Amino acid sequence: MSMIDFHSHILPGIDDGSRDAAMTRAMLEMSAAQGVTHMVATPHFYADLDTVDRFLARRERAIETAVPLAQEAGVDLFVGAEAAFFDGMSAAEEIEKLKIEGTDLLLLEMPFRAWSARDVRELERLLNGGYELILAHMERFPEFQRDKGILEAVLDLPLLVQINAEALLSWGPRHQVLKWFKAGKAHLLGSDCHNTDRRPPDLAEGRAVLLKKLGEDFLAGMDDFAEEILGL
Ligand SMILES: [Fe+2]
Repeated sequence: MSMIDFHSHILPGIDDGSRDAAMTRAMLEMSAAQGVTHMVATPHFYADLDTVDRFLARRERAIETAVPLAQEAGVDLFVGAEAAFFDGMSAAEEIEKLKIEGTDLLLLEMPFRAWSARDVRELERLLNGGYELILAHMERFPEFQRDKGILEAVLDLPLLVQINAEALLSWGPRHQVLKWFKAGKAHLLGSDCHNTDRRPPDLAEGRAVLLKKLGEDFLAGMDDFAEEILGL
């Protein structure tokens, strides 16, 4: 059985995640010690600051450094991105290159503001355009949505919702997140690890809460589904 971390800033020197090879190595070792077998490397991509091709060239260099370190740690890396949502994204063909390798999955970071009906339509266009969307750390967004109908409309779309392990560790978001998992509105867990101290790999701690609150069968079902969508 594999244990997959769907959201990580494990690649060195590419975003506000791992600083260098030494930190990447340490983060990989921390993850492996928690039982993580696969990590999806999802460096930030912002279309207003970068081009896809420049990003991919930087990512390629970071991967070359990270892959041997991952092999040493016994972790398999999948390469993707955490693509920041923008209006018109569905028409920007090069965004396809940010899908998780070998899949149609795109880890999408929604804007930290109130969402609009226009945003929902953009999500629908992405879904109709061959993307399987994973919304990153969904627990961070409800506080911006005064219109809960928009939040519901997004959660009702045929997309996947990723939760950060951290959300299960604090009393505030835990209740909401467990409700989503139970209702089939949240599907995947990630650490969103950025470093070894402030935002360290913590997948196992989040999983322990899921196990305690939702049970063994739930966790096994989540793992099976995670394997399936990555083609493992
Ligand atoms: Fe992230």
